[in-house]
Amino acid sequence: MSVLINRKKREPSAAIVNRREFILSSCAFCGATALGVSMLESCKKSSVASPQNVNFTLDLSSSSNAVLNTKGGSVIQDNVVVICTGPSVFVALSAICTHAGCTVSYSSSRNELICPCHGGIYSISGSVVSGPPPSGLATYKTSLNGKILTVT
Ligand code: FES
Repeated sequence: MSVLINRKKREPSAAIVNRREFILSSCAFCGATALGVSMLESCKKSSVASPQNVNFTLDLSSSSNAVLNTKGGSVIQDNVVVICTGPSVFVALSAICTHAGCTVSYSSSRNELICPCHGGIYSISGSVVSGPPPSGLATYKTSLNGKILTVT
């Protein structure tokens, strides 16, 4: 009989503890889920603005721009990647990854632009090859006058 009494007294207590544990574990689960969702949201594809009103010149006779005299050479100025693709032939693209705004770099061995943050890869024309970038890189005009390369 005393066992039954003790049982009756203990069961409600055990049930409360179980309820508490359930509520606590539910809150922990909900918190973890909310954190996970917010982390996924931050990784969600979005588009980052490209440089606007681009207008600068590069003096190719300057040692700081000498790499542009060789095919595969590249420089980044004003968030624009300028690449020499052949003798006196250049392309200029936004250096800002459209995924989350990291600075891309040109790989001459792969002839692609690579984002170091999440592995986004762009072609030399600016289109997305692979990875999370939602859109391609903006491109800009180049014109060469003597040794002065203008990017607009
Ligand atoms: S910032 Fe995410 S791939 Fe470039």
